Amino acid sequence: MNFAFLRRSLLVAAAITLAGGAFAQAWNDQDTGALDVIYVPTPHGVVKRMLELAKVGPDDIHYDLGSGDGRIVIAAVKDFKAKKGVGIDLDPQRIREANDNLAKAGVGDRVTFLRQNIFETDFSEANVISLYLLSTLNLRLRPTILKMRPGTRIVTQSFSMADWDPEHKESVEFNENGYPGTRTVYLYIVPAQVEGKWTMADGAQTIALDLKQQFQRVSGIFVIGGKPVTIKDGKLTGVNFEFTVEVDGKPVKYEGKVEGNIITGTHWTAKKAS
Ligand SMILES: C[S@@+](CC[C@H](N)C(=O)[O-])C[C@H]1O[C@@H](n2cnc3c(N)ncnc32)[C@H](O)[C@@H]1O
Repeated sequence: MNFAFLRRSLLVAAAITLAGGAFAQAWNDQDTGALDVIYVPTPHGVVKRMLELAKVGPDDIHYDLGSGDGRIVIAAVKDFKAKKGVGIDLDPQRIREANDNLAKAGVGDRVTFLRQNIFETDFSEANVISLYLLSTLNLRLRPTILKMRPGTRIVTQSFSMADWDPEHKESVEFNENGYPGTRTVYLYIVPAQVEGKWTMADGAQTIALDLKQQFQRVSGIFVIGGKPVTIKDGKLTGVNFEFTVEVDGKPVKYEGKVEGNIITGTHWTAKKAS
């Protein structure tokens, strides 16, 4: 079998999936090397909305994995005032374009473009990540992303994170140089890890918590006075944890912040059982 031909065919299929047949011809002229996905830029209006949804600001370090001509990283630093931006792309042509665009943007002191493979890059310093790749590539990155600092925001374009539900999803309309269209944008927030057994002190009461976690959703049992109660609406938004239990026929909402093995609530604390 001709593997080079097979690889080219797969990338053309990816091009068509990404943005329609109009981009496939453009791809034919590129030397894709070992790229996992071809270059298709995110329309500028969609870039703006992605960065708005991620609430990028002066405390943020933003990485675009597969950064193309650098537009998302440059906008994060220039227009949204992120303190640092890093773009990673394997294609030297894209890195050259990104550096040319950076020189024009005048934020070169806070932005770097690196020619690296996203699957071999340490991006753990980021607290905002943008991705316009493919579903399969998002899934390959997902385990690494889920180990990042809780609260890290991930915005993806066109492709989701499969069974990890987004915090927010919306269709963004654009009109780029006379070409109108719509792109779906997804926002994810890395949840803290709470799965396991906890001992909770709420005033004079000691409560046992046994938690199960699926991404940001939390279920489990709350044992008070020897009586097990099912946890409802358990949810993590980064380090912020909330759940509801029914005690004496009334719903009681608990809210706290997770810091490693401690959860601190307004009138309660919980410690992870060792
Ligand atoms: C669909 S484009 C997105 C470009 C940019 N993020 C945007 O939204 O405008 C995907 C980019 O990923 C790059 N790429 C593909 N495989 C890669 C890999 N394994 N490591 C780094 N970059 C890669 C391509 O060169 C391309 O520029």
